[in-house]
Amino acid sequence: MPEREGQNIIAVRQLTHAYRKGVPVLQGVDLTVAPGEIVGLIGLSGAGKSTLLRCLNGLITPTGGTCEVLGNPVPQLSERDRRRLRRRIGMIFQEFNLVDRFSVLKNVLIGRLAYAPALASCLGRFSRADVALARDCLAQVGLAGLEARRVRDLSGGQKQRVAIARALAQGAQIILADEATANLDVLTKDDIMDLLQGIVREKGTTLVLSMHDLPLARRYCTRIVGLKHGRITFDADPDALSDAAVADVLERVPQ
Ligand SMILES: Nc1ncnc2c1ncn2[C@@H]1O[C@H](COP(=O)(O)OP(=O)(O)OP(=O)(O)O)[C@@H](O)[C@H]1O
Ligand SMILES: [Mg+2]
Repeated sequence: MPEREGQNIIAVRQLTHAYRKGVPVLQGVDLTVAPGEIVGLIGLSGAGKSTLLRCLNGLITPTGGTCEVLGNPVPQLSERDRRRLRRRIGMIFQEFNLVDRFSVLKNVLIGRLAYAPALASCLGRFSRADVALARDCLAQVGLAGLEARRVRDLSGGQKQRVAIARALAQGAQIILADEATANLDVLTKDDIMDLLQGIVREKGTTLVLSMHDLPLARRYCTRIVGLKHGRITFDADPDALSDAAVADVLERVPQ
């Protein structure tokens, strides 16, 4: 990691993005994240949360500013280097997630591709050690016994667990989660957040999640970042976060 970024895992400065000319979505975002933080991104639908996460993993190239992840200037990387970087980033994304037609085990093994010899991984062959590791990761997320099941036949919560197991198998240094707990019942939401929090505590992984559930964010995040119309309007410790700041970012009229 370059000296100037010190301890930061993520360093975003004056980041801007527009999908269409003249319609800015991110409007000068500054965000630095240190190892082991659990950052909850909150904001109204359309505020730019997913766009920011997509800039971080190199799925889109921002229109301006700088975006460094694990010391890499993401927008400047070649497609090949972006893919390499993504292997160090666990992703729990709704639209960029699992391969539905593959088994649970194979989806987790995909996280080991970065470590397999090129030819073996092209052929979809994994070492015994990788298979054992993938099984172990599935057991850690409570999915032992479902290894052979096709992902398309799993529930939403089970799919998120597969994605978490894949991040574990990857040895990911960062996990980016785009609404990892959306559409899940209350208990399952807690289970998923418990799992993610456990990984952060045990392995020092850094977690950035977009979320709509504010009470959940307050309970699990070490820091809450509010995005409003593509700008960060607050960045606070959950305990220090005022109701007025939340009401402002969510454009709620105070009672
Ligand atoms: N691929 C795209 N092409 C054009 N516009 C897009 C695209 N993706 C998102 N947008 C627009 O960019 C803005 C920000 O979208 P984004 O998905 O980042 O919001 P979000 O904060 O994640 O919202 P949500 O809470 O609904 O997931 C929205 O106005 C959206 O319509
Ligand atoms: Mg989104």
